[in-house]
This record gives sequence, C-alpha cells and structure tokens, in this order.
Amino acid sequence: MKLLAIVHSTHMGNTMQIAEAMAEVAPLTIAPFEDADKYNLLQYDAVGFGGGINAGSHDNKLLEYVKKLKEVPKYSFVFSTSATGKSRKYNAKLIKLLESKGSKVLGSFGCKGLCKFFIFALVGGVNKGRPNTDDFDAAQSFIEDVVKSVEREKQSK
Ligand SMILES: Cc1cc2nc3c(=O)[nH]c(=O)nc-3n(C[C@H](O)[C@H](O)[C@H](O)COP(=O)(O)O)c2cc1C
Repeated sequence: MKLLAIVHSTHMGNTMQIAEAMAEVAPLTIAPFEDADKYNLLQYDAVGFGGGINAGSHDNKLLEYVKKLKEVPKYSFVFSTSATGKSRKYNAKLIKLLESKGSKVLGSFGCKGLCKFFIFALVGGVNKGRPNTDDFDAAQSFIEDVVKSVEREKQSK
C-alpha cells in the first residue's frame, strides 16, 4: 500500500501538521505542493489533496493543478483546515473536480486551524492551539479508514 498526499499549506502550516499526523499511522508520503510535479501520482494506490481554505475553497493553485492533471489517480481523498472547520462545504469543490475527472474520492476530512488573517492577527489569531491532539487523532482515524477503503476496493476488483 502506497499513499501520497499533496499538501498546499501556506498560512500557518496547519494542514501540513495534519498530513504529518496521518503519516505517523499510514504508509503516506507527503509532497509539499511546490514539489508536486516530482511525483507520479499514478504510482500510488490513492492520492490525497489537502490544503488550507482560502475564500471558501481550497486555494486556486491546488484547484488549477488538479484541473491540469492529464490523468487523475484512480482513488483519492481530500482534506483541509480552516477557520470555521466547515469541511463539508469547503472540500466540495475539490471533490467535485476530482470526481468530474474520474477519480473515486474515498473520504473527506477537515478541522479547525489557527488563523491570523487580517484583523484576526490583532488578537493573536482565532483557533489558538488548533489543530490539537483531538484533531490529530481524528485525522489518523480518517487515514486508517482510507487505507481500509482502498483495500476493499482492490479486493472487489
Ligand atoms: C487569505 C485567507 C483566506 C481564508 N479564507 C477562509 C475561509 O474562507 N473560510 C475559513 O473558514 N477560513 C479561511 N481562512 C483561514 C485558513 O483556512 C486557516 O487558517 C487554515 O488552517 C490555513 O491552513 P494552512 O496553515 O495549512 O495554510 C483563510 C485564511 C487566509 C490567510
């Protein structure tokens, strides 16, 4: 089993921390977004696309990168961190994009992350201490479920 996560984490490194927690319990290689082109996505059993939320969805750079992929991985998963933690809403655009290109999205995860954008910086940010150990535990359960889903998919073929 080989998993890859392409991570666009720029504001506070929050989403990278989540990816690192996942990599502690799963055979997950982390590719920072700027290195994404160095990886052949088709060599992995599933590929995760994660990042901080910027104005209601994953950052445009990550969305454009996925849009431009000639071939998408057969199985994927999506994750994010954001100020509100509303991942169901925020992950939807990237999930739809992956599905429209033919990837089966096996899971979606999100949690709150420290935000020091704009006026929040004046009070030291919102969501201090997030992601926290509960978030890391939830991320680890999530990736363990992704691994199980990949195994199930492969067995059913
Ligand atoms: C320019 C900018 C736009 C943001 N837009 C949103 C948003 O629309 N909704 C939200 O909940 N959080 C928003 N945030 C907060 C970030 O998504 C949050 O801090 C996230 O954890 C950053 O992830 P990162 O450190 O991995 O980049 C925004 C932050 C910045 C800097």
